[in-house]
Amino acid sequence: MSWNRKHLLDIESLSAPEILTVLDTATAFKAVGERAIKKVPALRGKTVVNLFIEPSTRTRTSFELAAVRLTADVVNFTAEASSLKKGETLRDTARNLESLNADIFVIRHSAAGAPHFLARFLNASVVNAGDGAHEHPTQALLDAFTIREKKGRIEGLKVTILGDILYSRVARSNIWALTKLGAHVTLGGPSTLVPRVFEKMGCRVTHNVEEAIADADIINLLRIQHERQRKTMFPGIGEYANLYGLNKTRLARTKPDALIMHPGPINRGVEIDSEIADSNRSVILEQVTNGLAVRMAVLFLVSGGKGPQEVAA
Ligand code: CP
Repeated sequence: MSWNRKHLLDIESLSAPEILTVLDTATAFKAVGERAIKKVPALRGKTVVNLFIEPSTRTRTSFELAAVRLTADVVNFTAEASSLKKGETLRDTARNLESLNADIFVIRHSAAGAPHFLARFLNASVVNAGDGAHEHPTQALLDAFTIREKKGRIEGLKVTILGDILYSRVARSNIWALTKLGAHVTLGGPSTLVPRVFEKMGCRVTHNVEEAIADADIINLLRIQHERQRKTMFPGIGEYANLYGLNKTRLARTKPDALIMHPGPINRGVEIDSEIADSNRSVILEQVTNGLAVRMAVLFLVSGGKGPQEVAA
């Protein structure tokens, strides 16, 4: 499969072969990252703008490092110190930055659809780094990459996503990616945060956490997205931790080789006990490491790369 898209806006519109092309290209870039000289000239002369209008640690930093490793010039736009604060629109902001010869915009925004909006009028490529509760495509790609790397396959695996599904862009992108690649996805958590409507996306929904994790090969935990919840969806954090958090008692009832994943940031003692987050069952920091290779692959592909065959061995 050869990549042929100018933008990466979501996972929903990608085919399984396109997703696998990103994963295979990321595998090639991960090998580059293990060499003494970790930089390649693939994006020499190109400019990447990190347009983050919402906070981020992992995504923004790894996109910046990915662009640097590809020898691109990088601009990190800081919303708080910009003319957005004086009332300039997102459209005008992006068009002004494009006038400075930006080739790729990596955008994170609290509004669902913001990347799709930019892609309508910019000549540059647009990469979605998280838009509201809609999608976070590179998170799903790095999660799929990590699962494939650790388990050797994705097809046929049982993946449980536990927690605040309703407000989670990570959940939506993961559901699209994993079901397209043939995994069986279970969603678990309180009924207020895991409505049955998600069954329409091909998932099993359960509100019994023990049932959700019992036969899982992968347990992906999500934090409570307070910033996107309009009102309290459960009585309190303590009750949530008791009823749905992954603790030692619950972990003992999972498959011994089930991987524990989390996109971060983690809320220790809420959705996951601190010891489990730091245990050898957890691949949370490996997910972060893999994010760099996946984001190198995405920047490479949207700027005209066709696939892993074009990454110098
Ligand atoms: N997983 C994730 O998107 O983390 P950041 O918000 O820190 O980028």
